[in-house]
Amino acid sequence: VNVTIVEAGSDQLGIAQSLLERFFREEGFGTPPEVLRSNLDAFAADPTCGVLLAWTDGVAVGAATVSTTRSTEDGQIAEIQDLYVLPEHRGSGVARLLVEEATAWALEQGCRSVEVVVTPEAEAAHRLSAFYARLGFDATGRTIHARRLSRS
Ligand SMILES: CC(C)(COP(=O)(O)OP(=O)(O)OC[C@H]1O[C@@H](n2cnc3c(N)ncnc32)[C@H](O)[C@@H]1OP(=O)(O)O)[C@@H](O)C(=O)NCCC(=O)NCCS
Repeated sequence: VNVTIVEAGSDQLGIAQSLLERFFREEGFGTPPEVLRSNLDAFAADPTCGVLLAWTDGVAVGAATVSTTRSTEDGQIAEIQDLYVLPEHRGSGVARLLVEEATAWALEQGCRSVEVVVTPEAEAAHRLSAFYARLGFDATGRTIHARRLSRS
């Protein structure tokens, strides 16, 4: 299959939005579509973040988002935030290409590593640790501890 990965321009954010909406719905993420849209707009407007689309025969079949952050340990690091391939286009290397392009983008940004968070739900549903291991991502054993913030 002929797949091209392109960074989404502002006119293609609607396409990325519909792929990510579907991703969130299928995976049970609670983010409402309008919140996803404004987060995605802010993401695309930020040069330290990237939105990638995978195209085949003029159809967007997958999307990935990647952000960068600073770390005192590692300098600049990247994180793949979202990765989704339409079910009927899975198993032909689209996600691998999206991750390779996200990694190339991260290298250009001066990043020393690229990370991804695997939720227990996604692990149970898709065995994502096996998938990411095939793409060269090692489990670190670190856990994420988050505290929700609100301005009251
Ligand atoms: C996970 C997902 C992105 C994979 O997309 P895909 O285009 O089918 O993946 P690829 O065809 O590029 O596969 C890349 C490699 O991983 C392997 N692989 C694919 N899915 C796998 C899985 N669930 N478990 C283990 N290995 C897997 C492939 O065999 C292939 O191996 P190889 O290239 O070494 O032969 C896709 O199934 C998806 O969108 N799932 C739902 C959303 C999701 O879980 N996203 C990740 C959240 S961060």
